[in-house]
Amino acid sequence: MRIAVLNGPNLNLLGQREPEVYGRTSLEEIEAMVREVAEKLGAQIEWFQTNHEGALVEAVQGLRGRADGALINAAALTHSSLALRDALLAVRIPFVELHLSNIFAREPERRHSVIADLAIGMVTGFGAQSYLLALQGLMGRLRAA
Ligand code: DQA
Repeated sequence: MRIAVLNGPNLNLLGQREPEVYGRTSLEEIEAMVREVAEKLGAQIEWFQTNHEGALVEAVQGLRGRADGALINAAALTHSSLALRDALLAVRIPFVELHLSNIFAREPERRHSVIADLAIGMVTGFGAQSYLLALQGLMGRLRAA
């Protein structure tokens, strides 16, 4: 199984950025955790982070034929990017939406996701563990298909 993990704006600052909201684990540390669990589950990981909407759209477009599924933390673009939504509609790859924080317990503008209805499911609020839970959920679904 080839799984792409796509990370949006400011997630490169994890560990230093608002640690009371996002925790103290860096994105590199999360990547290492995901790769370790993925190996045990027999999945190959392609890891990507960008601070640019267009680059995220291009990454989604590039998934066709390259990945069996994806984990997506689109960060702030979750709440606004119709371009990201359109790319996911075009590519139709099975994906799990994930967030470190519980977006439903935050400011009103973060409680809506423009991609949630396209996802297999969502994991939100478990900090760095959200990535591992999302990976398990995605792998289970892909294996069952
Ligand atoms: C986030 C939640 C978003 O609202 C925020 O813009 C982020 C991170 C999360 O993982 O909790 O950058 O996606």
